Amino acid sequence: MSRLVYVLNGPNLNLLGQREPQIYGAETLFDIERACMALAAELKLELRFHQSNREYELIDWIHEARGIAGGLAINPAAFTHTSVALLDALNAFEPPVIEIHISNVHKREEFRRHSFVSQRADGVIVGCGAQGYELALRRLAKLIDAKG
Ligand code: DQA
Repeated sequence: MSRLVYVLNGPNLNLLGQREPQIYGAETLFDIERACMALAAELKLELRFHQSNREYELIDWIHEARGIAGGLAINPAAFTHTSVALLDALNAFEPPVIEIHISNVHKREEFRRHSFVSQRADGVIVGCGAQGYELALRRLAKLIDAKG
């Protein structure tokens, strides 16, 4: 099983640290990327960490991950609640998928409670802040280790 893991981030997550810090915290996406890289080294995972505000770019990275990655973690941001196209792309990706949300989407507006991506995700991490990314990597490492 490949130890390559994709970590994908959807729209507006490039503004983490500046954007609604009372909801999303003070850490920037670069802080999160650095923490993920450090943990990946510990877990012996190779990471590809990306962010885009464009749905098609996220879809293209999921396609790229097909056949080469052993797992994928995604914070689809607002596309979570709207994108059948992301769900379709993830349905064409076989290895484990973990969905991450920094905030507790269930404690917020009603429209954030529905996720298209959750229909495909093997695990969902919600409301654990930036630490959610580390939890997702630990889970993926465990699933990859179990497959051998
Ligand atoms: C988010 C929650 C989404 O509802 C929102 O659109 C985001 C971020 C989160 O990480 O909490 O942009 O995915």
